[in-house]
Amino acid sequence: MLIRLFCAVLSYSAVLLRASADNNSKFEVAYEWNYINYTWPSAEAMSSAGYVPGEDVIAGIKIYKNVIYLALPRIKPSSRVTLASIPIDANKENPLLSPFPSWEMNSGSTCDAIQNVLSMEIDKDGIMWVLDARRVDNNTDCPPKIILLDLNDKGKIVNDFLVPDELCPRNRGCFLNDIVVDGDYAYISDTTSSDPGIFVYHRDSNSAWKARDKSMFGDPNAVRFEAQGVENEKASHINGIALCCGETERTFFFMPQTSLHVFSISNSILKNRSIATGSNLHNFITDEGTKQGQSGGMMCDTASNIYYGILPLNAVGKWNIKKPLLTAEIVEKNDEIIRWPDSFSIYKDYLYLITNSISKFSKSGIDKSEINFRIIKLKTDTRSYIYC
Ligand SMILES: *[C@@H]1O[C@H](CO)[C@@H](O)[C@H](O)[C@H]1NC(C)=O
Ligand SMILES: *[C@@H]1O[C@H](CO)[C@@H](O)[C@H](O)[C@H]1NC(C)=O
Ligand SMILES: *[C@@H]1O[C@H](CO)[C@@H](O)[C@H](O)[C@H]1NC(C)=O
Ligand SMILES: *[C@@H]1O[C@H](CO)[C@@H](O)[C@H](O)[C@H]1NC(C)=O
Repeated sequence: MLIRLFCAVLSYSAVLLRASADNNSKFEVAYEWNYINYTWPSAEAMSSAGYVPGEDVIAGIKIYKNVIYLALPRIKPSSRVTLASIPIDANKENPLLSPFPSWEMNSGSTCDAIQNVLSMEIDKDGIMWVLDARRVDNNTDCPPKIILLDLNDKGKIVNDFLVPDELCPRNRGCFLNDIVVDGDYAYISDTTSSDPGIFVYHRDSNSAWKARDKSMFGDPNAVRFEAQGVENEKASHINGIALCCGETERTFFFMPQTSLHVFSISNSILKNRSIATGSNLHNFITDEGTKQGQSGGMMCDTASNIYYGILPLNAVGKWNIKKPLLTAEIVEKNDEIIRWPDSFSIYKDYLYLITNSISKFSKSGIDKSEINFRIIKLKTDTRSYIYC
């Protein structure tokens, strides 16, 4: 009897030990999806839209007033919605997305509708700056745009900027990738393979320019890496960007996807059109050194920490920019929940991150019986750089 009790206690503690070893994750899964589906108004609407389960992917995230806004780049021809939302108290498992600001604006039927979004940012006033400027799949003839939507007025359009062809060619792969907002300015990673750069948009004058430098190109020696069983074979240029706090000047960080380097430049340089587009730009760019692997997105918080994904490691890194990049640490490596760490948002003391295996999604599609997309979160007790 005693022996049996002893054995029972032993196996019970083994279960406890294993449970804690399996889950020492610092990140918590907030939402997870096998595939993306929507709050269709009717079965007819769903079938006439030509919805194909498993052909949509979430890639961008920003949060405002308890609503999570999600960008869904139209990578597969059947994908119908490119900007959507869920309430922050949505179900953890497979919550249905609602198109934002409306079904009509997501219909893609005319060039007034939103066509293909990868990223957006939301400023302090609740204006969402939307990059409708992913023109790499040839699934729209509409010119790339930067659209400003007022989240305190049902997503009403308050500004609409048509991206000029000479800055980003609509028929030759224009790709505005990620955005940070600095007052009236936005700094955007322009991943266009023929002409990468930092795309600066100035809201007040509704004008834009592009800063170009060799640091914004991928490093030919860092092209190959593997993630989720897919071998990357193509060079990819400036992608992840971050803006940190500062007294008078603020520092903007950028990294090409196929590179280990992080570079930086002052926001005062980017704001000055003649210097930003001049031939001496290289003198104002700092090479901060290298990190542990190739990355997609990054984001700076109010405590000068940059969080960044490390694609080949299924990991998230953290660098305090007051110290050398070499001191950056790995917050978590997790082969289950950190598959292709893509896009970050910080809201109410938590860092949110979308992980989406997007290269596998693009190349071979997904298995709908598995969990393919997650939003995971980590307590940071900090705020977004927007609130510096
Ligand atoms: C680990 O446990 C926490 C708390 O129970 C939970 O919120 C989280 O989702 C778990 N993480 C994973 C990866 O299962
Ligand atoms: C998608 O969601 C609708 C409700 O909006 C539901 O009727 C339909 O069955 C769902 N389809 C799939 C494949 O989950
Ligand atoms: C888009 O389609 C046009 C016409 O079919 C073709 O000439 C062009 O190369 C395509 N562009 C891309 C980026 O695939
Ligand atoms: C941009 O920089 C140049 C050179 O330092 C300076 O002369 C000019 O006033 C600046 N322009 C603006 C708008 O600050």
